[in-house]
Amino acid sequence: MKNDRVKKLLMISVSVLLIVLAAGIFFFNHNNKMVLEGPQGEIATNETSAQAWAKFYPAHWDSYQANYANTEKPSHFTAKPYLTAIYAGFGFAKEYNEPRAHVYTIEDILAIDPARKKAGASCFTCKSTQVPEMMQKYGEQYYLMSFDEIKEEFSEAIGCLDCHDPKTMELRLSRLALIEALQRQGRDVDKISQQEMRSLVCAQCHVTYYFQPGSKKITFPWDKGVKADQVLAYYDEMKFSEWTHPDAGSGMVKPRHAEYETFQDSTHESAGLSCADCHMPYTKVGSKKISSHVWQSPLNNIEQSCTTCHRNGIDWLTSRIKTIQSQVKQTQDLAGEAVVEAINELKISQAAANVDQAKLKEAQELHRQAQWYLDFVVVTNGYGFHNPTETLNNLSTAIDAAHKSAQKAREARGLK
Ligand code: HEC
Ligand code: HEC
Ligand code: HEC
Ligand code: HEC
Repeated sequence: MKNDRVKKLLMISVSVLLIVLAAGIFFFNHNNKMVLEGPQGEIATNETSAQAWAKFYPAHWDSYQANYANTEKPSHFTAKPYLTAIYAGFGFAKEYNEPRAHVYTIEDILAIDPARKKAGASCFTCKSTQVPEMMQKYGEQYYLMSFDEIKEEFSEAIGCLDCHDPKTMELRLSRLALIEALQRQGRDVDKISQQEMRSLVCAQCHVTYYFQPGSKKITFPWDKGVKADQVLAYYDEMKFSEWTHPDAGSGMVKPRHAEYETFQDSTHESAGLSCADCHMPYTKVGSKKISSHVWQSPLNNIEQSCTTCHRNGIDWLTSRIKTIQSQVKQTQDLAGEAVVEAINELKISQAAANVDQAKLKEAQELHRQAQWYLDFVVVTNGYGFHNPTETLNNLSTAIDAAHKSAQKAREARGLK
């Protein structure tokens, strides 16, 4: 009898212990996990309106709404007056503003200067959740449609569908150009780590691209690698120019916001960070913890963006950012002046009599290179913070090529 009692008691206490343990694990995990609210109910597979996701993810919707506070879009020309000279003959010379929040993309694109509408429907490709839908609707014709032909059809800015699968909320890629570029690199897009996805969702738009001649299809020029020299080599090989500089006569190529490319191989990227680590840090919303959906300058919230890893304090971090950026700005201005000097020399030589055509061509080729390396830095947001050493390296390459271009242009008209 005594034995039975002991057995019973043992069984009861083991069960109680197990229950307590299970509850403990449950609460421990619960408190340490990001709180996933859904999916509760159904979001349609192609729900382009972010508002329709709001009732399932109210905390994320509130965070997304906070983007509206980010309204400034100053012109790049104020701080970089040489840009109008280097972009001469191209739409960017008319207008080029700094970016602002994701929620303003439709408003901003509809307000662009008519000179910049030449790219056509493609302008909308990084601006709206409706893009995959439009590509399905129009097929390859999408790229060939004019800006005005398609503009009425877009109403939704960047939203949930751009980065999430509505059924599972997993991160996913919705942009064809990125998927195709990764596939050409031999990657299986269904087997990408979560941490890499936290950068690749941004790489759908924060990258450089070009329009394929003829089809105008948006393509990422990454087949030789994503770095400035590798992308230029890719364009050189296909003898690609986007426009001819009217003063210099050089065939030009145009980089665009290469944040993802610049970030690759940086100190932070090689340490395993992703874009979301700094730009979507965990934030407390009431008793919940969510990834911030306010895409902004980390300078606005260094506490959340950096101090999870760096214990050096906000002042140190701010001063590191400011120092890197002001050094980049200084070197960028030198490169800007050097490229303008090359353009001026080329302009004189082009008009001169008895000019040595071979030397002139060489000078134009050097101008193309110089401007490419400079522009790769200019158009990349963050003023070099994402990869300070590489950024300064690109700028020094630009300065050197620009000086050589100016020198060759002078030689072409018989000067020493
Ligand atoms: C569908 C395209 C798209 C995706 C995806 C995207 N962005 Fe953007 N992003 C843009 C565009 C376009 C702008 C500029 C909007 C404007 O000025 O109207 C922008 C602006 C920004 C800004 C600047 C805000 C400011 O204050 O100047 C930051 C920061 C940013 N994005 C970070 C990210 C991060 C981080 C990711 C990935 C988690 C990401 N973006 C994903 C297209 C995209
Ligand atoms: C530019 C890309 C992008 C857009 C747009 C976006 N998200 Fe996210 N979202 C992310 C990333 C990155 C994470 C972090 C995922 C991870 O690490 O697993 C995330 C995480 C989440 C999570 C998981 C919990 C968390 O906070 O980590 C939810 C839920 C979510 N987002 C809802 C939304 C909703 C709702 C919208 C639209 C209002 C939206 N997201 C728009 C990129 C995006
Ligand atoms: C280690 C932290 C960190 C990582 C990782 C990071 N960034 Fe940044 N990012 C910054 C800082 C700091 C700035 C400079 C902010 C400023 O000048 O106000 C910045 C600026 C930007 C800007 C311009 C914002 C503005 O308001 O001017 C964009 C867009 C951007 N980053 C996108 C990205 C993308 C896309 C990735 C991933 C490929 C990425 N960032 C990875 C820290 C980071
Ligand atoms: C997820 C962790 C993490 C976050 C978030 C993070 N860093 Fe770092 N940071 C690192 C690591 C790892 C290194 C490599 C050096 C080291 O181990 O200390 C580093 C290096 C640096 C360096 C030295 C860079 C160099 O090239 O020598 C600076 C400056 C820096 N971080 C600033 C920042 C700022 C500013 C932010 C926020 C915008 C930030 N970091 C966010 C992990 C992080």
